[in-house]
Amino acid sequence: MTTQSRTIGIIGGLGWLGSALLHAALDHPNLQGVRFVVSSRRPAPQTLPERVSFTQDNQALVEASDLIVLSIRPQDWAELSLDMTGKTLISFMAGVTCEDLHTRHHPKNLIRALPNGACSVKQSYTPWFAKSDLSPDLEQLIGDLFDSFGAHDPYDSEDHIDVLTAISGAGPGYPALLAQALEQSAIGLGIPSHKARRAVNATLKGSGLLIQDLQQSPADTVSLLESYQGTTAAGLSQMKAADYLQVVDSGVRAAYQKALNFQDKKD
Ligand SMILES: NC(=O)c1ccc[n+]([C@@H]2O[C@H](COP(=O)([O-])OP(=O)(O)OC[C@H]3O[C@@H](n4cnc5c(N)ncnc54)[C@H](OP(=O)(O)O)[C@@H]3O)[C@@H](O)[C@H]2O)c1
Repeated sequence: MTTQSRTIGIIGGLGWLGSALLHAALDHPNLQGVRFVVSSRRPAPQTLPERVSFTQDNQALVEASDLIVLSIRPQDWAELSLDMTGKTLISFMAGVTCEDLHTRHHPKNLIRALPNGACSVKQSYTPWFAKSDLSPDLEQLIGDLFDSFGAHDPYDSEDHIDVLTAISGAGPGYPALLAQALEQSAIGLGIPSHKARRAVNATLKGSGLLIQDLQQSPADTVSLLESYQGTTAAGLSQMKAADYLQVVDSGVRAAYQKALNFQDKKD
């Protein structure tokens, strides 16, 4: 089957991640011949882009699709009973294992992938794990799909997907907490709130680009800034003394544990 005749189905395709994936994929030059079908429990939207159809019948979506993306919340998956025999399934769900997906849906090929919220600006990082070998044309299609919304890497261990759920999967979560702290400090020290937000957002955005461009470890960047023995060094020294690294590590470990136990806790 050529890419031109492929259909990709997105279950939960009107949600945040599902619609971000759809719009990024529609723009990708290598996916111009691909058709899409999206599903939701709510009625069809008034307008849909060209090459996209809608259904509330998930089994019909499965039958019509060569590749099925499952982009619903893990809590909603408990109700989803679908036969995907002979199909290829990509699950975006945090914490739902290949074993459980296979037992429920029986797909021929099974991939767990964990994009993040930056999908909507085509800047996601997406780790993915394939339960079995993929044919070259399927790997190409999946690569194009993931390319459309950012960077991605294959992993050999499913556990690494759960680890990265707690890191890259958190998307803007941890940077937003840092931004909140910096904004509060700026306002507390007298900066007008609208300028504090601009200052913090621009600093995070510029630093993200710079860190990527520097091509050195974060530890080397910190050491470089400490070597100036100036104001930034004073700030870093105080934060390190207050166990900043340990605080972040404990948060990441809590998120990882949550990913491992997601289906038990359901909150
Ligand atoms: N957002 C992120 O940054 C992020 C990052 C990593 C992983 N994920 C994973 O991605 C998945 C989706 O997250 P999200 O943020 O996009 O959630 P979301 O915005 O709530 O989207 C989920 C969508 O699924 C639909 N849905 C629920 N049950 C359905 C069913 N039985 N059939 C068809 N559609 C159904 C919902 O629409 P209706 O209510 O109309 O059915 C909703 O639009 C989650 O499993 C999450 O763990 C998300």
